[in-house]
Amino acid sequence: MGDSVEEILSAFEGRPHELIPLLQAVQEREGFLSEDAMRRIARHARVPESRVYAVATFYAQFRFSPVGKRHIQVCRGTACHVRGAPRVILEIQKLLGIQEDETTPDRAYSLETVACIGACGLAPNMVVNKENHGHLTAKKVSKVLGRTEPLAED
Ligand code: FES
Repeated sequence: MGDSVEEILSAFEGRPHELIPLLQAVQEREGFLSEDAMRRIARHARVPESRVYAVATFYAQFRFSPVGKRHIQVCRGTACHVRGAPRVILEIQKLLGIQEDETTPDRAYSLETVACIGACGLAPNMVVNKENHGHLTAKKVSKVLGRTEPLAED
């Protein structure tokens, strides 16, 4: 884990203006920004740790805990919202027992909401590990997640 951060850092010159690309690159590789990674980024980019935290927490794209094996991203764009995204989110929360931006204790699932993913015609949508699932209903959600008690007969 630590070595891959080192590898990323070494690909950058170590200048303050590289802060955001560094954060993006580390998150892309590690899946999230750990405290240790942010400390090392601060050192490498020669900026105070407080600045790294301020920048990372300002942008919604950065996350600070590991995502689950199945990373669920529910679209919260207007079309999806109007066509039932809030119901989809509630269903996921009910099935998995987690809230937005949380990961199940077994690290099997994590849930986040994202801006329009450009598939409005299929609203409401959710993406699971980069695969889109559209025209969602509560039933379809539980099927996609493979997680519901009444699903036994499927
Ligand atoms: S609003 Fe959800 S895909 Fe566009």
